Amino acid sequence: MTISDLAEQRSKLLATLEGISSSAELEAFKLEHLVRKGSIADLFEQLKTVPKEIKPEAGKALNELRKSVEEKFAERESIFGGEVVTLAPLLDLTMPSRPLPVSEPGHEHPLIKTLNRMVDIFVNMGFEVAYGPEIEDDEHNFGKLNFAADHPARDMQDTFFIKNGADPMSPALLRTHTSPVQVRLMESGKLPLRAVMPGRVYRNEAISARSAACFYQLEGLVVDRGVTMADLKGILLSFAKQFYGDDSGIRLRPSYFPFTEPSVEVDVSCYICSGKGCRICKHSGWLEVLGAGMVHPNVLRNCGIDPETYSGYAFGMGIDRTAMMQYGIDDIRHFSDNDYRFLRQF
Ligand code: PHE
Repeated sequence: MTISDLAEQRSKLLATLEGISSSAELEAFKLEHLVRKGSIADLFEQLKTVPKEIKPEAGKALNELRKSVEEKFAERESIFGGEVVTLAPLLDLTMPSRPLPVSEPGHEHPLIKTLNRMVDIFVNMGFEVAYGPEIEDDEHNFGKLNFAADHPARDMQDTFFIKNGADPMSPALLRTHTSPVQVRLMESGKLPLRAVMPGRVYRNEAISARSAACFYQLEGLVVDRGVTMADLKGILLSFAKQFYGDDSGIRLRPSYFPFTEPSVEVDVSCYICSGKGCRICKHSGWLEVLGAGMVHPNVLRNCGIDPETYSGYAFGMGIDRTAMMQYGIDDIRHFSDNDYRFLRQF
């Protein structure tokens, strides 16, 4: 065996592989050259008898030969391997799958668990569930909700705008709250309305243990003839009792939102200390849980609803902080870390 023999043998094998056009030929090639008693193994056998002086060089050439033939073989196999009929009986689709590496089949995410509990309570009180797009336009997220053109919430600091939106007059953005879904429902013209709208919202905030750039909200909207603030208060009190516990109370504080008038901030009595004062409620006895109010007549009008005939209330709450309080989670980032050691606890 000489170096040039090896070079010649190598080109011959590679050319043969190149010419192969079926899995059967590929299989035959393997049996002739690549198995334990094949031609390449034979060459390694012969290597033992070559003169000492050329042994290192011949060894190197032979190793290269084997490597390049194996690579070429793998390449051809990736093309013709699919036809390998003999493999089919090995694939038994009725075979039971391997058990999961953990004993539990899976968990609902704590955020979704909290959200679903809330949604269920409203569904039991006659609310429908509605969804809207996360990529919104300025009109739905702000304009029709009665945000003045220079309202600070439109500022780049808070909103993720998306470049090259289809309509330059109404740029695309990631919705900053679920309230645009209210607009879409009212625009649909189907009255009366009684719906909750869960979903993800986005704000350009510094990320910390307390705030994330993406979080969940649950919005509520009722529009009908003769809807009053008393209806709003009744629904929220009923929700608080079902979600936070039967002895929960609520209190309404005046607030401001462009899309509601009057607007309120709603607190629920602290369910940890029952209103006595503790670390969680910062010794006030109350937890701030949502924003709400009567739908502003301008908003009704913007959505084609006559405010002389119809009135409505709306409310919106954050899910993440509620879930954090409920489960004693100290960092909002745990929700998106996707660490199974965290998730499996819920
Ligand atoms: N959209 C408001 C927010 O994100 C919450 C809200 C909804 C307030 C509906 C009033 C009525 O802060």
